[in-house]
Amino acid sequence: MSTRLGRAITAALVLMMVGVLAILGVQTIFAQSAPADGLRADIVKAEIPSDRKPVVTFSLTDASGSPLTLEQMDANSVRFALTRVEKDAQTGYGRLLNYVVTSATGRSYTFEGEDTKAALARASQAGYDSGGVFTSLGNGSYTYKFSFALPLNYDVDATQRVAMQATRNARQWVGNDFYDWKPNGQVAQAVTSVTNKACDSCHDLLAAHGGQRYEVQLCATCHTEQTTDPETGRTVDFKVMVHKIHRGENLPSVAEGKMPYYIVGFHQSVADFSEVAFPRDVRQCTACHTGPAADNYKTKPSAAACGACHDNVDFATGAGHPAGAQPDSACATCHPADGPEFGASVTGAHTIPERSSQLRGVTFNLLVHEQMTSSGIVGPRDVGSRPSGTVIRASVDNGHYRRPVLRLH
Ligand code: HEC
Ligand code: HEC
Ligand code: HEC
Ligand code: HEC
Ligand code: HEC
Repeated sequence: MSTRLGRAITAALVLMMVGVLAILGVQTIFAQSAPADGLRADIVKAEIPSDRKPVVTFSLTDASGSPLTLEQMDANSVRFALTRVEKDAQTGYGRLLNYVVTSATGRSYTFEGEDTKAALARASQAGYDSGGVFTSLGNGSYTYKFSFALPLNYDVDATQRVAMQATRNARQWVGNDFYDWKPNGQVAQAVTSVTNKACDSCHDLLAAHGGQRYEVQLCATCHTEQTTDPETGRTVDFKVMVHKIHRGENLPSVAEGKMPYYIVGFHQSVADFSEVAFPRDVRQCTACHTGPAADNYKTKPSAAACGACHDNVDFATGAGHPAGAQPDSACATCHPADGPEFGASVTGAHTIPERSSQLRGVTFNLLVHEQMTSSGIVGPRDVGSRPSGTVIRASVDNGHYRRPVLRLH
């Protein structure tokens, strides 16, 4: 009897202990599954099924590589853009065009204390898809099916890009990714001629739109030729906007025309770039142009890309351009990628005097020099030996035109 009672008590104790352990165990499991910091969004693949509504497969993980769920993201923060590379009929250049283009309304805004009317009543803007369908594949993997179907005759040979953003913990953590592919199965064409690595050499780390976006390949899906800011009437095409932002205070329209360069962003906030001082010579094009498609900066000249920095030139009328009005298809004939220093080629024209191999000592025809150092050598490599405040101007004469080659302060 006593032994039976003893067994019963032992059994009860064992059960209780199991219960306690189970609770502890459950807590341990909960503790283990509480997500770690960070967010990583990865696009694994994308395809266009027979209904032509593209499907993208992606995963969400934390910094420790553990899967995250859609519910753990900020509400409606997982968003997708879809673009294709289309060949420009005139130039043959490939450019990204977004499938989703909406119309934005221009509203008045306050600039420097003044109520200012929008330049345009409406403007087109490329953007994210909305209303697509998410399906869980388990373990942090999902598919997203776009809400729209591609046109019947969509180009299966053209590179397509899907790009995404997701945020977590009230935007504390941000994940961006992109995926390029060709529906015909061939290797995708590299299109965007800049890399985050290049931007981050100064920006550390690049962030835009309230910190939700950092991936330049994602920027390029909305910042296409299709997107205009209705308030200013200015395009935010990536090549135009980024060139203008960084030429900043030296942009001819800003420096000479006294016209501020700004864009009116979300909530009518004015982002004025008129005082940006690029910490390097902006002619160092490769400060940004790196990566697989980098050479596009010198092989695909156009009025939009070149004229963004040279905004005192009008390529349609020819004003300010020594060769007059020219179409985009002609630029590369006179401005080839490479050529002699200070020539009309893209790299030649942007020779940075301080880096020129021709400027070691006086090896060129000096026409003007306002002031020289005691050594008399116009050698940029001895900049350090110059008394500060000395302004040196010199010009080269290559038979066609004269140009100041040294502006040291
Ligand atoms: C601060 C960064 C930055 C600098 C400096 C810069 N670019 Fe760009 N450039 C861009 C971005 C961003 C684009 C758009 C890239 C894209 O969408 O593929 C672009 C695009 C271009 C394009 C259009 C073809 C292409 O690559 O997409 C040309 C041409 C170009 N740049 C020329 C130049 C030249 C010439 C210089 C130097 C005198 C220069 N850029 C300096 C950022 C820069
Ligand atoms: C050599 C340094 C340098 C490089 C390289 C550079 N930037 Fe910038 N960028 C700047 C400076 C300086 C500013 C002005 C910052 C300010 O005034 O707050 C700026 C401002 C900007 C701005 C507007 C303000 C902001 O911070 O959001 C954007 C957008 C931007 N850069 C994007 C880019 C992109 C994209 C690239 C690469 C393609 C790039 N930058 C490469 C120096 C650089
Ligand atoms: C989903 C589309 C989309 C993406 C992705 C996107 N942008 Fe934008 N961006 C816009 C639109 C649209 C505007 C014009 C704003 C307006 O008119 O209201 C804009 C404006 C801007 C402006 C000027 C106004 C402001 O608010 O500062 C900067 C700078 C900018 N974007 C930088 C970037 C950079 C850098 C990236 C990538 C890291 C990026 N954007 C990605 C749509 C996008
Ligand atoms: C990021 C800004 C930027 C871009 C983009 C750019 N340039 Fe320039 N370019 C300059 C600067 C700065 C100079 C030096 C002269 C000056 O300050 O205007 C210059 C000088 C030149 C010159 C020499 C004539 C002169 O005024 O000294 C030519 C020719 C030229 N660029 C052609 C082009 C062509 C063609 C493209 C497009 C492929 C282009 N540029 C794109 C900034 C730019
Ligand atoms: C028939 C030849 C020719 C064609 C075509 C041509 N250019 Fe030029 N361009 C020139 C010459 C010559 C100069 C003066 C070169 C210099 O100053 O070094 C020049 C100067 C420039 C400059 C510098 C302007 C300045 O501020 O001094 C830019 C920018 C430029 N061209 C861009 C373009 C673009 C963009 C196209 C196509 C839309 C184009 N060019 C087509 C011959 C041409």
